[in-house]
Amino acid sequence: MAAGVMGAGTMSLGGFGIYAHWPYCSAICPYCDFNVRRDRGGDHSALLEAIIADLAGHAARIETRGATSLFVGGGTPSLMAAGDVARLIAAARDLFELRDDAEITLECNPEDRARFADLQAAGVTRFSLGLQALRGAGLLFLGRRHSVREGLAAVEAATATGARISIDLIYGRDGQSPEDWRAELAEALALGIEHLSAYQLTIEAGTPFARAVARGRMRVADSDRSADLYAATQETCAAAGFEGYEISNHARGAAAQSRHNLVYWRGGDWVGVGPGAHGRIAMGGVRTATRAHADPLAYTRAVAETGVGWESAEALDNAAIAQEIVLMGLRLREGVDRRRWAALTGGPDAAQLDGFIAHGLVIATEDTIRLTEAGRPVADRIAAALLG
Ligand SMILES: C[S@@+](CC[C@H](N)C(=O)[O-])C[C@H]1O[C@@H](n2cnc3c(N)ncnc32)[C@H](O)[C@@H]1O
Ligand code: SF4
Repeated sequence: MAAGVMGAGTMSLGGFGIYAHWPYCSAICPYCDFNVRRDRGGDHSALLEAIIADLAGHAARIETRGATSLFVGGGTPSLMAAGDVARLIAAARDLFELRDDAEITLECNPEDRARFADLQAAGVTRFSLGLQALRGAGLLFLGRRHSVREGLAAVEAATATGARISIDLIYGRDGQSPEDWRAELAEALALGIEHLSAYQLTIEAGTPFARAVARGRMRVADSDRSADLYAATQETCAAAGFEGYEISNHARGAAAQSRHNLVYWRGGDWVGVGPGAHGRIAMGGVRTATRAHADPLAYTRAVAETGVGWESAEALDNAAIAQEIVLMGLRLREGVDRRRWAALTGGPDAAQLDGFIAHGLVIATEDTIRLTEAGRPVADRIAAALLG
């Protein structure tokens, strides 16, 4: 793969990805703080054109080519017309030499299952299905619009296309016990899927859920309950043959891992287009963090005026790069590339590292630093300490 300038800061290690954000959803879920907008049935063709033009704007500014993955996330990109998805894929192929064997993921809501066959025919190779729960009470609690039966039908519809399937589930829902969660999760893992993202419910500031918690109308799992739910997740997935290759992500074998997300976790480069999208690209040999305008209109205007949708493009210094690769990499079972960390900032704080090793939380070799099972639930705290 060709890359701009390679060094400890600019890396295409583990692939080069493209992320495209589609912000529209039929309804906004009360827990969600992604960059989303209610789809009121308007014409979004200007946004699609802007996203494609933004890709071209990136291609004119960076030399990196040979994309190994395209991830269309949201929002709800399964609301996009299949023809529009095909155009996006074609643009990624033309502009970034998206490889023939690239992983092309689309995030889908179960309500859109009747369109999965067309989306697969448009080039999607992997469906990421937002099931969220396999219990009616759980879906109701989360304010979802689909039923358990519709969720299962969505898995069937995706399976029929022959594409790879990942599902998202949210645990730590109101009153959910580890036993209930184990049973629900085991059912999900038996659906013939190859990948699971299991997220603990996060109460995000400014959401209806945050207001409900503030008013005492909703309970959140305390830290003991959270730890039990996390342990139940790891054990149930392992028993079903799903390896927890990242803290929230489990795959049935290495080939089933999310190639696109591995680019983020391994500190690789990706282009981010669409409202609010983040990217990490090599510009003139410098690792650069891009953030697109969040508002679809402002984004579309920026692309028209400047050629790209950036609200900011910031060159990252070595300390900032090290911080990112450590925070991300420690989430992976394989750990952080120790040599790259050393080249950036000299590597981890030696005294902290020795302490964590002695406490059985970290394993260090010449090449990698990774967490033990005991260390994984406290990855962020360990990362902060090692970064000094
Ligand atoms: C950006 S959403 C898009 C998925 C798709 N629109 C859907 O809702 O099914 C990606 C995933 O983030 C997870 N998620 C969103 N908000 C969350 C929260 N507050 N806590 C935990 N997980 C969350 C959900 O599992 C969701 O499927
Ligand atoms: S969870 Fe999915 S459907 Fe719900 S608001 Fe967020 S992106 Fe939209």
